[in-house]
Amino acid sequence: KRAVIIDTDPGIDDAVALAIALYSEALDVRLLTTVAGNVSCDKVTNNLLKLLAFFKKEIPVAKGAARPLLREAIDASDVHGLSGMEGYDFPEASNHLLLEEHAVEAMYRVIMEATSKITLVGIGPLTNFALLLRIHPEVAEKIDEIVIMGGAIAGGNKGVTSEFNIAVDPEAAKIVFESGIKIAMAGLDVGLKALVFPEDSEKIKLMNPVGDMMYHLFKKYRGGSFATGLKMYDSCAMAYLLKPEMFELVDTYVAVETTGALTSGTTLVDFKGYLGQAANTKVCVDIDEAVFKSWFLAAIENCKE
Ligand code: BDR
Ligand code: CA
Repeated sequence: KRAVIIDTDPGIDDAVALAIALYSEALDVRLLTTVAGNVSCDKVTNNLLKLLAFFKKEIPVAKGAARPLLREAIDASDVHGLSGMEGYDFPEASNHLLLEEHAVEAMYRVIMEATSKITLVGIGPLTNFALLLRIHPEVAEKIDEIVIMGGAIAGGNKGVTSEFNIAVDPEAAKIVFESGIKIAMAGLDVGLKALVFPEDSEKIKLMNPVGDMMYHLFKKYRGGSFATGLKMYDSCAMAYLLKPEMFELVDTYVAVETTGALTSGTTLVDFKGYLGQAANTKVCVDIDEAVFKSWFLAAIENCKE
């Protein structure tokens, strides 16, 4: 089993990715941490605790950064609803899984206690990972890989060229990409092709209670507009961990723009080597959509005791 820590901001597509990870036999989720992103850190933490109560999974949770390193928070409640996870009547969250430690200290402890290397999976802004690497740089040699959903080769969903998770906290993303740790980037380019259509959602609803819950979330995601398919961005990070063959991967250098007046938060994926730097990232440049779809449906079917 691969030992992972997942940092998240649930978030409807986060909820789906978390279900896949928590029910996967191939992953050993040691810790879940939260970060301000889709909505505030308080709200996403509460959403995560509700999800765990619903899944009946006992994984420790540590609350992390309430805002980006240098900037004011921007949220995505237009996409995920005011609570960040609108559409399903969850059981009340129970606080017994919530650690007193800050996410950064909990990650540090779990990484240093582990007898083998840990993989970090980031499906929200990278604030917590950046703080961890700055406050406790010695963790670097105990991290196997940092897998992120974030960034884009071409075209953004927050700015003209920037993807939301990077655009929220570009300085944090820059620290992570420049850390020297192996990075895998599942960005918008593949996220936009990881789609759920109404007919998929109807199947998912009937699979099991987790699928039924997702069906209801999907009805509210992006205000319920299924026309062009719902994008399962964050599931792409889990897809990379669990079935990397579905991606076309290219090792290259990725820089993060932090100062551009119009472009800050953009990932510059330097295929042609203009920046003269060695590769730091395995970039998912394409995804086999049919393979994703069957993997995704099977992964949700697997979300049962
Ligand atoms: C990313 O932004 C968030 O809204 C999603 O949860 C995903 O992590 C996609 O740009
Ligand atoms: Ca997310």
